[in-house]
Amino acid sequence: MASYDVIVIGAGPGGYVSAIRCAQLGLKTAVVEGRDTLGGTCLNVGCIPSKALLHATHSLHEAEHNFAEMGLKGKSPSVDWDQMKTYKSNVVGQNTGGIEFLFKKNKIDWIKGWGSIPAAGQVKVGDDVHEAKNIIIASGSEPSSVPGAEVTIDEKIVVTSTGALDLPKIPKKMVVIGAGVIGLELGSVYARLGSDVHVVEFLDHITPGMDADVQKGLLKILKKQGLKFTLGAAVSKVETLKTKAKVTYKLRKDDSEETLDADVVLVATGRKPFTDGLGLEALGVEMSPRGQIKTDNQWRTNVPGIYAIGDAIDGPMLAHKAEDEGMAAAEVIAGKHGHVNYDVIPGVIYTTPEVASVGLTEAAAKETGRNIKVGKFSFMGNGRAKAVFQGDGFVKIIADKDTDRVLGAHIIGPAAGDLIHEICVAMEFGASAEDIALTCHAHPTYSEAVREAALACGDGAIHM
Ligand code: FAD
Ligand code: NAI
Repeated sequence: MASYDVIVIGAGPGGYVSAIRCAQLGLKTAVVEGRDTLGGTCLNVGCIPSKALLHATHSLHEAEHNFAEMGLKGKSPSVDWDQMKTYKSNVVGQNTGGIEFLFKKNKIDWIKGWGSIPAAGQVKVGDDVHEAKNIIIASGSEPSSVPGAEVTIDEKIVVTSTGALDLPKIPKKMVVIGAGVIGLELGSVYARLGSDVHVVEFLDHITPGMDADVQKGLLKILKKQGLKFTLGAAVSKVETLKTKAKVTYKLRKDDSEETLDADVVLVATGRKPFTDGLGLEALGVEMSPRGQIKTDNQWRTNVPGIYAIGDAIDGPMLAHKAEDEGMAAAEVIAGKHGHVNYDVIPGVIYTTPEVASVGLTEAAAKETGRNIKVGKFSFMGNGRAKAVFQGDGFVKIIADKDTDRVLGAHIIGPAAGDLIHEICVAMEFGASAEDIALTCHAHPTYSEAVREAALACGDGAIHM
């Protein structure tokens, strides 16, 4: 039985980052992880493999649709699906191996196996009980099913994102349930590979929670790319036959029932916290009605010495949010001041073009009762974007009309996921739209569109 200052349960982006920060702050640290590799959902079956497939299939799209126009002639590449999956697995392996290296470098013990907490100060793995002055639960999340519907997930025909990242062959017809982040990213992957992708969404719009202009703009772009959408439709049943499935949904406007056939059905209707087997009920750890572990603003649960972070607690289920909480919780345990600014957490969808947002949407900004102004600039006015066939999107900045302070930004466009961080930094510094507009931006870059949107909050954009 070993004794530690901190034992972290779960080696996803929340847990592994927290452990590294604990070790850097001089705390004797171990991580319990039940998977065969480190990195959690994100590195193994989430962010990293999905981005590898998005990159590969985007490259295919470029070759098929844009190469000839650039004078790059010849046969388009054919798809070797097994090789594409090998590439994806290699990328995952490099990343998970990298975390193992970081653990060794920081002298963090990896206790292999599934952990539970028999009492505060103890973590049990197999027959061993380890002592810890502090325990951080970073046990992450798992896919949820379709609320109120008869759906059995077999990870062959009816799959979650995990199955969709590793299909034995490219389906001819794929039905995606849910037009959220997973549905649109993985739907894009298969649409680019030639699948007939039909997305069925409960709401009347895609990407719940995002700015209305983004919802409308992205829908138009994805339709142009060949994805089909049925909005305002609640899936009620998925039946599987031998190699096929039938999806039944009800249109909310008139309650009429329709069906779709598919070779593969991707269930992408959200994720829920994973806390099975930890023994939290016996310990008396308070949970929310949605199954999240309740914490205070220092990531403490109601049980002294037990903290929780990441997808297992409230807030957006994002890797970088989990990482920030992991670092902050480590700092709190080390007696320092841990802080996460939940008002400035960017969200990115890695379609082409990318979508990125931070802060308030226009509707949410109006709801605060402030006077607001909106500066918008189309990538059609950005020379660099047009050169890469991505003039379709825009940058939209929302600022306070009275103070000019930036309240939020929403981008559809090339490298939107990187551009958004200029706005994040501006918001962290309490900057005004004019501060961004007065900052010299290199030409020709996509970031000029951010400056133009900021100029549009004032006397006007130049190239529009
Ligand atoms: P997790 O990454 O889920 O890690 C938890 C770990 O804890 C797991 O490895 C699990 O095995 C382990 N564990 C659980 N219980 C125990 C136990 N009792 N004992 C031992 N080990 C245990 N987010 C982004 O920000 N960007 C993206 O591009 C992105 N893409 C995604 C794509 C997909 C397909 C999916 C599914 C998710 C994606 N996400 C993305 C979300 C992101 O993966 C999660 O928000 C993030 O992984 C949460 O980190 P975490 O550390 O809280 O939990
Ligand atoms: P989501 O919450 O983004 O979207 C789920 C969608 O399913 C919603 O639009 C919802 O209205 C719809 N839905 C629910 N029930 C339905 C029904 N019966 N019929 C039709 N539609 C229905 O969840 P998603 O896409 O599964 O992603 C889960 C989490 O993973 C998200 O919280 C996200 O933050 C994270 N993630 C992040 C990524 C990124 O940052 N790029 C990429 C992938 C996942």
